[in-house]
Amino acid sequence: MHNRLTISINKNSSLLRQLRDQGYFIPAYCGGRGSCGKCRVRFSEHLPDATETERQMLSADELAAGWRLACRVFAEGTCVLEIPEYAIENVATADTLAKEYPAIGNPGDNRYALAIDIGTSTIAASLIDVMNRETVKTVTGINHQIAYGADVLSRIDASNRGEGRKLQELLFSDLGDLCRQLGIGENVKTLPMPVVIAGNTTMQHLLQGLSCRGLGVFPFTPVDISMHLYKNMTILPGIGTYVGAEIVSGIVACGINQKEDISMLVDLGTNGEMVIGNKDRILVASAAAGPAFEGGSISCGSPGVPGAIDTVTIEHGKTSITTIGGEKASGICGSGVLDTVYELRKEEIIDESGMLKEEYLEGGFPLAPGITFTAKDVSEVQLAKAAIRAGIEILLQSYGITYNQVSRLYLAGGFGQKMDCDKAVGIGMLPKELRSRITAAGNSSLEGAKKLAMESSLAKSFRHAVRISEEIVLSNQKMFQELYVKYMYFHY
Ligand code: FES
Repeated sequence: MHNRLTISINKNSSLLRQLRDQGYFIPAYCGGRGSCGKCRVRFSEHLPDATETERQMLSADELAAGWRLACRVFAEGTCVLEIPEYAIENVATADTLAKEYPAIGNPGDNRYALAIDIGTSTIAASLIDVMNRETVKTVTGINHQIAYGADVLSRIDASNRGEGRKLQELLFSDLGDLCRQLGIGENVKTLPMPVVIAGNTTMQHLLQGLSCRGLGVFPFTPVDISMHLYKNMTILPGIGTYVGAEIVSGIVACGINQKEDISMLVDLGTNGEMVIGNKDRILVASAAAGPAFEGGSISCGSPGVPGAIDTVTIEHGKTSITTIGGEKASGICGSGVLDTVYELRKEEIIDESGMLKEEYLEGGFPLAPGITFTAKDVSEVQLAKAAIRAGIEILLQSYGITYNQVSRLYLAGGFGQKMDCDKAVGIGMLPKELRSRITAAGNSSLEGAKKLAMESSLAKSFRHAVRISEEIVLSNQKMFQELYVKYMYFHY
């Protein structure tokens, strides 16, 4: 679905940037570098000439129909455009979240509380009935910072260019929107209830208005990743720059730091984070898996929002899909991406090396009208799953145990719906030795925040999880590259 917009622009900066400056946030996964093809807008009038990049990224039909890439358009005058419906305008101004807010007592004193997971692509919020210890309602929405790029590096980059305030405002605007959907107000900072927030280190820095300068360059130093209370909000603690509060929250949600037995947690967010350990010792790592399972690097990829394809089956040449909310298919979210690759391999439409059958090489494999899965998409999944699987092997070796000693593997992520564990094993992303011990944990970051929202005394469990955790840097491990190449293949 698209909205029509009339806007005056000039040649000094890209249409993408000018749309952003005027409060319209078009997905721009590559951050405006002209390589993702996601920032599509359709000109109804005053169509500018297509650039070389646009001719490469868009088909002749699309170009003729008026589609252009907003990051490639440098034009002068008034134009009439169609932009995605969710490209919001008039972002509410957020007051800087400053330390002058007095800390409150324990969260959980009131009847209701709010738990929030701020993902790089998607934000989820659950209203909790604290007295009855139950979730009243959960809502999700797009993180409109996606207009600055799909991954945290592009957000860090934008923040370092002086756009940190705008990124912070976008977060508060998105949080306000979720509050409205829950019917509890529109300013998360003035809600009459405790709010518990989990997110990766970059999201939490942006939310708190902290500098992101140290996050993007060696030695990757965050300003502050400890637990904070601001007025009604609890910001959960992280472990490091690339293993943040969303993982600590997942550790607590799965009870890993409470058990004698050794468990693993694999969280497929924009990166692939992984955890191994028990109540005494935890190792964590972050694999540069890319945003394939958040739809970021997939040509028709989408966050887990209504209309995203979340399940795919292919039987005897017939493709069946479901979408979130049963709406018309608008893209593919993480669980749909996994399903697609598994099904394509099962049907031998891709071979063990990831090569698509010749007939689909040009236009991709069709999933729904206007939605295809391309050869490049398959490669993106191969890169992601190889990084994750190699990371799992390295963590296991570093912990000095075998698969037999792992009692449970939790598979987490905000995919739209829970991933199919058999399919994750089927494409070789997770070890088959653990198949019978894999549990789909859904959005474990949100679940951890919900736990604390229900029971404030759990704060000490979060601090304990941080204290016993140690980060393993995968790129420093000799075996990592070798394993990475090995797991690029699809093994059954
Ligand atoms: S192609 Fe324009 S933002 Fe990626």
